[in-house]
Amino acid sequence: MDKLLRGELICKALEAREHAYVPYSHYAVGAALLSADGQVIQGCNIENASYGATNCAERTAVFQAVAQGMRKFRAIAISGGMEGRQPEDYAYPCGICRQVLQEFAEENFKVIVAKNVEDFQEYDLKELLPLGFGGGSIR
Ligand code: THU
Repeated sequence: MDKLLRGELICKALEAREHAYVPYSHYAVGAALLSADGQVIQGCNIENASYGATNCAERTAVFQAVAQGMRKFRAIAISGGMEGRQPEDYAYPCGICRQVLQEFAEENFKVIVAKNVEDFQEYDLKELLPLGFGGGSIR
């Protein structure tokens, strides 16, 4: 992916991370999703006292974007780490988020996991969710 665009996505993921609501795990995640038409939608993890009602940063971004009328996405940047500190590791998306991303992903959808703008890894979603189950199977 283009270096400037990737840098912007990582910055927006780090910015979104600041809004994470994480009183239980203290693990703050931010995501920035790039729509097919070039819009960037941010998301953060939102925890809940029930634990099970917690929403991941990636799904917050996808659901926010879909609710605004977007349906196709090109890439997502994700940054996670302990609240109040710079990310020290790459934050890979959980299985449920991989499945949700696949639902709305364009061909060659990229997943960027980043500690900062200089330190990141880029994957194709197909590498992270090979042989995934999709709508094509039930239509
Ligand atoms: N989390 C995310 O936001 N995204 C993921 O893909 C993995 C986990 C959040 C959920 C919870 O608030 C915290 O990280 C610890 O699991």
